[in-house]
Amino acid sequence: MVNTSVDLAGLRLDNPVIPASGTFGFGYEFAELYDINILGSISLKGTTLAPRFGNPTPRIAECTAGLINSVGLQNPGIDAVLSEELPRLAKVFRKPAIANISGFAIDEYVTCVEKADKAEQIGLIELNISCPNVHNGGMSFGTEAKSAYEVTKAVRAVTKKPLFVKLTPNVTSIVAIAAACAEAGADGISLINTLLGMRIDLKRRRPVIANVKGGFSGPAVFPVALRMVWEVYEAVKLPIMGMGGVSSAADVIEMLLAGATAVQVGAANLVDPFACKKIIESLPAEMEKLGIESLEEIIGGAHNG
Ligand code: SIN
Repeated sequence: MVNTSVDLAGLRLDNPVIPASGTFGFGYEFAELYDINILGSISLKGTTLAPRFGNPTPRIAECTAGLINSVGLQNPGIDAVLSEELPRLAKVFRKPAIANISGFAIDEYVTCVEKADKAEQIGLIELNISCPNVHNGGMSFGTEAKSAYEVTKAVRAVTKKPLFVKLTPNVTSIVAIAAACAEAGADGISLINTLLGMRIDLKRRRPVIANVKGGFSGPAVFPVALRMVWEVYEAVKLPIMGMGGVSSAADVIEMLLAGATAVQVGAANLVDPFACKKIIESLPAEMEKLGIESLEEIIGGAHNG
């Protein structure tokens, strides 16, 4: 009998598989399809202080081996998330969930995290400083070490829950940004958010996406994400939630070998709503095939020797 459980900054997960924010709603929507208690945890839809309608449509462009999104952080705002969405989730999910928090100013991040900190079912805060689809916020905090440090430090002061910072790959050195977050008191790093991309509609000769550019994700980005997880693991001694194009149990194991402690599954949920279930159910057989008794023992294993 293999052991799939991992310790994520003090949170014991039955397995390391977590649906990524923005690809799994607030979780309860999927409870109609299967028992979501098989998941390691759930990273909830990205949440801001005020409700947001999101970006103009079209917001999605399909690509070979992936897709581009420009959703623009559509969400009902932190108060509605805590008072309406979270109680709905609590009815069907008995495990700690992850609050994914975005903002446009440091005090917005702080207020949101202060509120999320009081919610019992929130077991971990994921500070999103990497959304490529909004101006004056989101990714702009995550593209400079100084601003990444400042927002992480400010938020650290208002929560004792495990604090992970979600980073963008659209930078010269993701390692430098991760190191700044570690110095500011983060408990872990989530990476990677989407890669900035675009498509052009050949018939209209115009960009497919109304906002022109968006974030590219899906299987095509997996090797890029894996490389960045590898680099951050070597440089920063914090647990990592690895994500980017993960779509199989083998991908999960590869992410752990590169240095991830937990693994988020994103675009795969949009292709197949049962993707996380299939990955979790096939993990034990994949481990047995590879002679792995415990997932915890292989974290960062590809760095040894
Ligand atoms: C979005 O809502 O535009 C995507 C969120 C993200 O990439 O962080």
